[in-house]
Amino acid sequence: MNRKIAVVGGGNVGATCAMYLAEANLADVVLLDIVQGMPQGKGLDLTQAGPVRGYNAKVTGSNKWTDLKNADIVIMTAGLPRKPGMSREDLLKMNADIVGSVAKQIKKYAPKSFVIVVSNPLDLMTFHMQRKTGFPKSRVLGQAGVLDSTRLRAFVSMELNIAMTDIQAMVLGGHGDTMVPLARYTTVGGIPIKELIPADRIKAISQRTAGGGGEIVKLLKTGSAFYAPGAASVSMCRSILCDEKRILPASAYLTGQYGIKDIYIGVPVVLGAKGVERILELKLTKGEKAALQKSAKTYKKHLKELGY
Ligand code: LAC
Repeated sequence: MNRKIAVVGGGNVGATCAMYLAEANLADVVLLDIVQGMPQGKGLDLTQAGPVRGYNAKVTGSNKWTDLKNADIVIMTAGLPRKPGMSREDLLKMNADIVGSVAKQIKKYAPKSFVIVVSNPLDLMTFHMQRKTGFPKSRVLGQAGVLDSTRLRAFVSMELNIAMTDIQAMVLGGHGDTMVPLARYTTVGGIPIKELIPADRIKAISQRTAGGGGEIVKLLKTGSAFYAPGAASVSMCRSILCDEKRILPASAYLTGQYGIKDIYIGVPVVLGAKGVERILELKLTKGEKAALQKSAKTYKKHLKELGY
């Protein structure tokens, strides 16, 4: 294949990204990790699944940064995951060091790539990645909104017993407890959920969505979710590589939209061959806007802790 995606971090999220990328026949994949042998083992295993699963994408594992060369997209998954009881922000300092050192390598070996950040705390790590690579903001974005909204879609489907794929949802704000699930923009076959689900249940579903990652951390006990985060990252890669121009919620750099600037946060974007091609500014209610701004405010504070 003449397209290449580098996945940094060979843990559960990275390996799941590699698997879904291969299954989608989207690009050749290189899985990079500092642990000797592990990414090579997973790459070989995924290659051996190809004949049965029907893909021809080449999946390899590597410990060498030089293998970032010619990557169209780099998916950054490396970093420590949460343990039960931890917030994503508790990972701030440790993961900032990891993101900073990977950014240097991406800048050196894949200077033209798009970077999709998955490491937590997501919006802050995306900001850090952009600063450390110095790449245009349209080429550095964070994966969170697709994950949060796919969780909301799944919960609405469970509530109504209606096909998940017919449900559209929009979740804005930071990828954390302050995220803003937008019930008004959540529809089932085009019908607003308000017409189908009582208000108290919508509230409960929205709260479950905001705590969706934590619910899984608690169940798994070691590590955090990886299937849905992997799937969400792959849908963003497809929109960029195939120039689909899908409207997806993603962590993007705001320059005054929604009354917020100089920060990465989850908003609806048009994702195409140029990366973040547009940021859509929805007309939010006062309450929704306040929630989004509150989300932004907590991140400004955390960015200060990182020295910004
Ligand atoms: C989650 C983690 C990956 O939401 O942020 O599951």
